[in-house]
Amino acid sequence: MKQWWKESVVYQIYPRSFADSNGDGIGDLNGITEHLDYLQDLGVDVIWLSPVYQSPNDDNGYDISDYQAIMSDFGTMEDYDRMLSEAHKRGIKIVMDLVVNHTSDEHQWFVESKKSKDNQYRDYYIWKEGKNGKEPNNWGGCFGGSAWEYDKETDMYFLHCFSKKQPDLNWENPQVRKEVFDMMSWWCEKGIDGFRMDVISMISKDPAFPDGEVRNGLYGDNGPFVCNGPHVHEYLREMNQEVLSKYDIMTVGEAAGVTIEEAKKYAGETTGELNMVFQFEHVELGDHRIGKWSAKEVPLKDLREAMNRWQINLEGKAWNSLFWDNHDQPRAVSRFGDDSPMYREVSAKMLATCLHMMKGTPYIYQGEELGMTNAYFSKLEDYRDIESINAYHEYTENGLAGKEEMMNCLKEISRDNARTPMQWNTKENAGFTTGTPWIKVNKNYLEINAEAEMAEKDSVYNYYKKLIRLRKENEIMVHGRFNPLLEEDDHIYAYERLWEGEKIVVACNFTKEVQACDLFRGLEDGKELISNYKEHKTGVLQPYEAIAVLCKA
Ligand code: GLC
Ligand code: CA
Repeated sequence: MKQWWKESVVYQIYPRSFADSNGDGIGDLNGITEHLDYLQDLGVDVIWLSPVYQSPNDDNGYDISDYQAIMSDFGTMEDYDRMLSEAHKRGIKIVMDLVVNHTSDEHQWFVESKKSKDNQYRDYYIWKEGKNGKEPNNWGGCFGGSAWEYDKETDMYFLHCFSKKQPDLNWENPQVRKEVFDMMSWWCEKGIDGFRMDVISMISKDPAFPDGEVRNGLYGDNGPFVCNGPHVHEYLREMNQEVLSKYDIMTVGEAAGVTIEEAKKYAGETTGELNMVFQFEHVELGDHRIGKWSAKEVPLKDLREAMNRWQINLEGKAWNSLFWDNHDQPRAVSRFGDDSPMYREVSAKMLATCLHMMKGTPYIYQGEELGMTNAYFSKLEDYRDIESINAYHEYTENGLAGKEEMMNCLKEISRDNARTPMQWNTKENAGFTTGTPWIKVNKNYLEINAEAEMAEKDSVYNYYKKLIRLRKENEIMVHGRFNPLLEEDDHIYAYERLWEGEKIVVACNFTKEVQACDLFRGLEDGKELISNYKEHKTGVLQPYEAIAVLCKA
């Protein structure tokens, strides 16, 4: 089926780090409005806006204290409305981040809920009695420590899968669902174009709340009991009936722990839930010896196997979302490419080709289109992210990792690598702010910035621009069936797309060595759609070369 969100390219904005309009060092809504022309030039169709709601900022806005108000750091509701209408004027849609697995502990609902066992908001959250003077079970939170917080007032514990300032909502309570749906309708009525749903796979918990498997000697893994729980699909179908189906919007669910079988339900063509999900298999490969923090390089075979599996198995049944990075991941070029001066540009273009030629809706995370790199902060004081800082302490203080080892892990994996300010130009602070930025600017902004790249014909920016344009000109890029090639190759990621008598053959060299490649022999009559080298030499792929050729099938 043809739907606009299948043909779209989405650009994710992390507002805190995008553009500061008033010199307080924090990106804001007016800063976004000022740069809409930039996004129009790039050619993206949709902006996914990370949370801009009122929040005490324990987790940079993913802890919301009022869903219908704007965080004062970011501006006002008038600023929001202006941004929305200016985006629409340019043909750009706005997708809001919907964070409803949890609220902030400063949300009015929780303030009430905490007051007493018989408060009318008590059951908005998940409260449990302790067991033998301890937590109700052994679950750990994603940001370290226990997932339960004791409340003296009522002598009970509340569940928080993330920080203790992010209590989980109780979706079993129909009143909670109604409040959430009403709030969503309110935004839809305002004219927004969709929702990216934060950890939406976690809204239904196993009612038995069993202990989880202990992996790091500290806490139990709650994953199997909070992801894809017993009622999640029922709740999403209800959400679809009550809200989503009434508007022409797009939805993408962040689905931690999702399997292909589950994804077919969440994002099925006919299941009546969401349009697509984010799955994380390709960014969660690794040995997991110290949780997500392992910085070991992942073999191309494993990466390709994970990505191909999703391409092949969702075909015709559900829609894929495509991404290398986001605000929770390190920078794509640093992780999967090569960010040394010699190969940064060519490998960033290679990664872009590999992703945008696949089947699904591509997501570009701010700065990815410039080939922005990891920040590699070497001092703990430079980090701002609650997850990184907590993990450093928890792992080093419990003897699970050495201090230097953990600092190296942060350099490779920390979310702050993606959260350094957007690099606009060569002015102070990369043109992000005239004040002191809330997090340090990456030192390489003199070489890597939007102004320089827009002016340079062969830049990473102009390469992304071309990829986006190609999607508009070639239906096959949207609808063509995916077919893997060279599945045994250790160095090249290759595949083809097939559609109405035509095919696109795509090959990407993931190494800095020349690799033999015969895929394009005999395709000399085909049309080269894009390549990151001036000339393709038949029989080989140059270091990090990527090429896509359209020809008869
Ligand atoms: C999601 C967000 C992440 C946040 C977490 C808790 O994974 O992407 O940034 O910390 O949920 O809301
Ligand atoms: Ca500001």
